[in-house]
Formats: sequence, structure tokens, C-alpha cells
Amino acid sequence: MAAAPSAHGFLRAAGQAAQGDSVVGALPPTSSAPLPTRPAATADEFYDPANPDLGRLQNAREAVRQLPQDRDGRIDWMAALRTGAIAPRSQLGGGAGSPPLDLDIIMKRTRQMPFVRFPHRSHTEWLACSNCHPAIFEARAGSTTIRMEDIFRGRYCGTCHDRVAFVTHRACDRCHSVPNDGRGG
Ligand code: HEC
Ligand code: HEC
Ligand code: HEC
Repeated sequence: MAAAPSAHGFLRAAGQAAQGDSVVGALPPTSSAPLPTRPAATADEFYDPANPDLGRLQNAREAVRQLPQDRDGRIDWMAALRTGAIAPRSQLGGGAGSPPLDLDIIMKRTRQMPFVRFPHRSHTEWLACSNCHPAIFEARAGSTTIRMEDIFRGRYCGTCHDRVAFVTHRACDRCHSVPNDGRGG
């Protein structure tokens, strides 16, 4: 890719090092001029702007453009899995892994909110039991006392949700999905 020399002068294909410059770890020259605005498509957390090979990497947005999105415009990974848009391997070398565990846990200590359905199936399509048991949750329904405060601080479900899985504060209903009959705890 022949990048315009001006705005991205510090980026160049490997092998095109300027004299006296080291390619690895080349940084933009310090100057008082405002930093160039990078194109929106590369301006996110996936990219190290100091990487001299930046222009040769596949753009992540381009790679995921075909995947289904949720209402916030983020990738809906469960939908991606269900529609077959992605087919992750269970094991590095291929081959079948353990079948997913089809066990829903209904969690009822939700005050006036709808109850929470924790679907083992959706999780064990990606994760091993040991990702959660016993460090995050004991494998016994009702044994963990979970407050939203803890989840927002990154504990329990929040170990992953709002981090690698869907965003907690915008999607109450994805977890709180079971009508509350007033008989919770
Ligand atoms: C990732 C899943 C998840 C999402 C998203 C989520 N919750 Fe929760 N929520 C839980 C779990 C799990 C519990 C604990 C249920 C139990 O122990 O019986 C809980 C408990 C609660 C409780 C009762 C305990 C407390 O902290 O007061 C309230 C109220 C609550 N949630 C409100 C919300 C609201 C409002 C939202 C959206 C802003 C939300 N939740 C989003 C999983 C979630
Ligand atoms: C993403 C996290 C997660 C993964 C992965 C996970 N579990 Fe769980 N599991 C839970 C949660 C949450 C509970 C409910 C804990 C509670 O209510 O305090 C639970 C509860 C259980 C229970 C208790 C059921 C009951 O009725 O008392 C068993 C058994 C269990 N899990 C087995 C497994 C097995 C086997 C696997 C792997 C195939 C697995 N879990 C994977 C989160 C997970
Ligand atoms: C170890 C990581 C991890 C933990 C802990 C975890 N989740 Fe998830 N969860 C995921 C991943 C990964 C997905 C799939 C990606 C996505 O939907 O963003 C997911 C998806 C879900 C879904 C969508 C299921 C579907 O079929 O659409 C629900 C609901 C959910 N989680 C609820 C919970 C609740 C409630 C808890 C806590 C009791 C919890 N999760 C704890 C990783 C986790």
C-alpha cells in the first residue's frame, strides 16, 4: 500500500526505514505541529500507532463488518455464532470438544427487576467449566450472593460482561429476562 508520505510519514512498509532510523519501535517525530488525525477506521484500541507496519495489517473493522450487530452497533457474538457467521474451533488442533451444557439457572434475588436467566449453554459453547468454576462461582445454584455493584466493578458476571462480553449497563434485559412473579429473594 502506497501511503501518502505526509500525514503518515512515520508509517512505512518494513524495509523502507529512513536513514538512521530503526524500524522497530519507530515513533512519530516530536514536533509542535498537531498530530495528524488518523482515519476513523484505524482510530481505535486495536492499533499501535507506533507500529511501522500498521498500514499492512488488516483493518479489524473490515474483518468484522459482515458480523451481526446489537442495538449499540457492537458485534453480537451470540448471533454471530447462531447464524454460522463464525464457527470457532473447540480445540486448537480441531476436533470435537465437550458438548455444551444445557442447564439454565434462574437467579431470583433481583428485587423488583425481572429474574436473571443464566444459560450454561450459551457460555459453554465458548468457555470451559474451569473459566467459572470454582474461582468465580461455586457450582451450586444460589450459593453466590451477587449485587449489581459487584458486577459493575468487574466481579462475578462482570468478570467478562462489559469487558469481553456484552455491555452490562446498556443491556439489563439480556440477563434480567424472566418475568418476576414476586417470589424472588
Ligand atoms: C450480565 C448479566 C446482568 C446484566 C446485564 C444486568 N444484571 Fe442485574 N443482576 C444480575 C445477577 C446475576 C444478579 C443477582 C441475581 C441473584 O443473585 O439472584 C442481578 C441482580 C440485580 C438486582 C438485585 C441486586 C442488587 O444489586 O440490588 C438489581 C436491582 C439489578 N440486578 C438491576 C439491574 C439493572 C438495572 C441492570 C441494567 C442497568 C442490570 N441489572 C443488568 C445480572 C445482570
Ligand atoms: C460463564 C460461567 C460458567 C461456566 C463456563 C460454567 N458455569 Fe456452571 N454455573 C455458573 C453459575 C453462575 C452458576 C450458578 C451459581 C449460583 O447460583 O450461585 C452455575 C451453577 C452450576 C451448577 C449447579 C447447578 C444446580 O442446580 O445447583 C453445576 C452443576 C454447574 N454449574 C456445572 C457446570 C459445568 C459442568 C460446566 C462446564 C460444562 C459449567 N458449569 C460451566 C456459571 C458457569
Ligand atoms: C467467563 C466469562 C463470563 C462470565 C463470568 C459470564 N459470562 Fe455471560 N457471556 C460470556 C460470553 C463470552 C458470552 C457470549 C458473547 C456475548 O454475548 O457477548 C456471554 C453471553 C451471555 C448471555 C447471552 C446468551 C444468549 O444466548 O444470547 C447471557 C444472558 C449471559 N451471558 C449472562 C450471564 C450472567 C447472568 C452471568 C453471571 C451469573 C454471566 N453471563 C457470566 C462470558 C461470561
